[in-house]
Amino acid sequence: MSERIFIEDLQNHVGSSVTIMGWVAVRRDQGKMVFFDFRDMTGSVQGVALPGSTAIETAKEVKTESAVAITGTVNKRPEKNVQADRQNGNIELQIESIAILNISETPPFEIADTAQVGEDTRLAYRYIDLRSERMQRNIRLRSRFVQLCREFLFKNKFTEIETPLLTESTPEGSRDFVVPSRLHPGNFYALPQSPQQYKQLLMVGGFERYFQIAKCVRDEDLRADRGFEFSQIDIEMSFVKRDDVINLMEAMITESVEAMGYTIKQKPFPRLTYADAMEKYAADKFDMRTEEDKTNGVLAYAWVIDFPFFEKTDDGKWTFTHNPFSMPKAEHVEWLLKGENIGEILTTQYDLVCNGYESGGGSIRAHRPEILKATYKAMGYSDAEIEEKIGHMLEAFKYGAPPHGGIAFGIERNVMNLANESYLREVVAFPMSRGGQSAVMKAPKPLTPEQMIELGIKIDKKA
Ligand code: AMO
Repeated sequence: MSERIFIEDLQNHVGSSVTIMGWVAVRRDQGKMVFFDFRDMTGSVQGVALPGSTAIETAKEVKTESAVAITGTVNKRPEKNVQADRQNGNIELQIESIAILNISETPPFEIADTAQVGEDTRLAYRYIDLRSERMQRNIRLRSRFVQLCREFLFKNKFTEIETPLLTESTPEGSRDFVVPSRLHPGNFYALPQSPQQYKQLLMVGGFERYFQIAKCVRDEDLRADRGFEFSQIDIEMSFVKRDDVINLMEAMITESVEAMGYTIKQKPFPRLTYADAMEKYAADKFDMRTEEDKTNGVLAYAWVIDFPFFEKTDDGKWTFTHNPFSMPKAEHVEWLLKGENIGEILTTQYDLVCNGYESGGGSIRAHRPEILKATYKAMGYSDAEIEEKIGHMLEAFKYGAPPHGGIAFGIERNVMNLANESYLREVVAFPMSRGGQSAVMKAPKPLTPEQMIELGIKIDKKA
């Protein structure tokens, strides 16, 4: 068996005998001859086992989706048989031998047409679903997008830094997922809703330009574009003003999606105030595309700025609209410090909107302890509660915390737009079901009695 050649490279081997490895995508037994489509991670190619060839016996019995090694000669097809619209449509592998590396049972669904398959089946057999053209394209698109953003960030002096998963609650407006501590029975870690506080502490720590492909976990109502877990390209920068962040991030998104061949509707991205957006679209995320733009896969980005900092809760208290760590707009800092005109204070928050989705959001932060403290005062926290919630941040900010700000992009939301998908699960390798059940494996599920004892946990049967 000769060295393995990837299917996309077969064009360079016309006339030679080569070996490919992959899966049997299609098998058409035409009596004397057997035709195949073979697939590897780089694409597909047609093959034929001719009557009397040494491969014909195996060709007649190999089942689709089996993993195989095929040795054969790369032949040019006669002009009349060329399929110009197909990858490798001008060549064909004349099969000399088929080695079955592992047979496949009949898969639970047709990989060529998963659009008709129910969600539960697709997720139970996600590893088979992932072989489909759609999933291969979406997951690779995601990888490429993240790679391009990463390259941009490295080029611009960013350092990639990981932050803890087992941590304390950080408020992003959702419930926490919690993890019981064995060493400290009755105590719980929270999984991060975002790395917000740690990335700010990295600014105090002098890194100046941080990023992370960060897993975030939020217990909120599931929707088409919302998961319990999702990933952010999470960014923070020191010694910057709002427009420094907006401009650099706009360059990152523009360079990345244009390198992938997409067209952006309007550059620079339009900037709308929250008030303008509400007046024009009655929403702070909106779709500016025409029908023609939609057909052509155009990306319509816009920034929304000048959001109100606070809104009233159902019980009449003030709460933050986006992020309690934000800095108010310069002209409203005094109001916040004095606790005046709370409802009129605007924040430095900026959201990036694309094709109707919120694809990212961030702000300049309150880097002086008294401003952060005033935010919590405005929300009705007592001194003791403030100390308990954010005492560590107030303490950190006492030691020359630089002015800083950042943003986080939802990777799934961005890739949904690139892949033209309307469900988050179509751009995640192993997503959860609508009901919050994990793919392939069976979580959530009960712990064993031994685990419960070790963790000091009892379940209230009435709950
Ligand atoms: P925010 O909560 O706006 O900001 O999140 C940033 C971006 O993450 C995406 N996103 C989600 N995607 C899928 N499922 C979810 N449940 C989900 N929640 C959010 C969105 C959103 O724009 N720490 C701040 C960022 C900052 O200020 O730097 C934060 O997390 O695309």
